[in-house]
Amino acid sequence: MFTIALIASKAQQTSQPMSAFPITLLQLTDTHLCANPEVLLKGVATRCALEQVIAAAAGELADITAVLVTGDVAHDGSAAAYRQFERAIAVFEAPVYCIPGNHDDPALMGEILGPDSVRWPVEVGLGDWQVLLLNSHVTEREGGELSSAELRRLEAVLQRSEAAHVLIVVHHPPVAVGSRWLDDIGLANGEALFEVARRDGRVRGILWGHIHQQFEGERDGIKLMGTPSTCVQFAPRRADFAVDGQQPPAYRWLRLHADGCIDSEVRWVDAALC
Ligand SMILES: [Fe+2]
Repeated sequence: MFTIALIASKAQQTSQPMSAFPITLLQLTDTHLCANPEVLLKGVATRCALEQVIAAAAGELADITAVLVTGDVAHDGSAAAYRQFERAIAVFEAPVYCIPGNHDDPALMGEILGPDSVRWPVEVGLGDWQVLLLNSHVTEREGGELSSAELRRLEAVLQRSEAAHVLIVVHHPPVAVGSRWLDDIGLANGEALFEVARRDGRVRGILWGHIHQQFEGERDGIKLMGTPSTCVQFAPRRADFAVDGQQPPAYRWLRLHADGCIDSEVRWVDAALC
């Protein structure tokens, strides 16, 4: 509870006036940085991979409105890993919004990254769109859950928001992704999230990390997007944990349109030198 309270204390409501659509978002997820940048995670140097992903994304997307970082920033929850991340994202002029994953230490993460380098918003207003970042971190558990306080907050933000469209961002997937071991450690109360979204009627997309593979789907008219890691990927449709050695690091871009449509693609990055 302490860590969640700390994040909430750093939370802010951010509103950016938008004059032009589409809104371009860059998602980076599961960077898994370690205190020692030379350490390999399943054969991948995670800091090197992140730097190459950022270079590729910055080269492709000249018009980034905001960067969304969806958790597992540090593999080891160390202060040194968060400082490396802070240096790596300094290249972005756009604001960077960040939520914790199961590997993170939310209190330490907030202490080092927020509020100057990374913002800890509960809600980001981008023109007609409301982007809502949810904290699904549960201390010492791999799986995630939205606390009753977080669900109440979600409902309260939706109630007072005048936005026409909503994008929800969370670390853990609210639906099964087809791998038993991952589905056992997803968002325990994903149905509660869908219930709120259905009642509200303005949620156009849900975006997550955690699964280290690409997922595209739709439910109740809501676009569902799971994004590969900036480092190691997991093999899809497996009963037990398995690394996918064939897939390189990746990022995802999203374009939010005035009519509520979301265009999005995953970009794989050749980081062979890492
Ligand atoms: Fe991860």
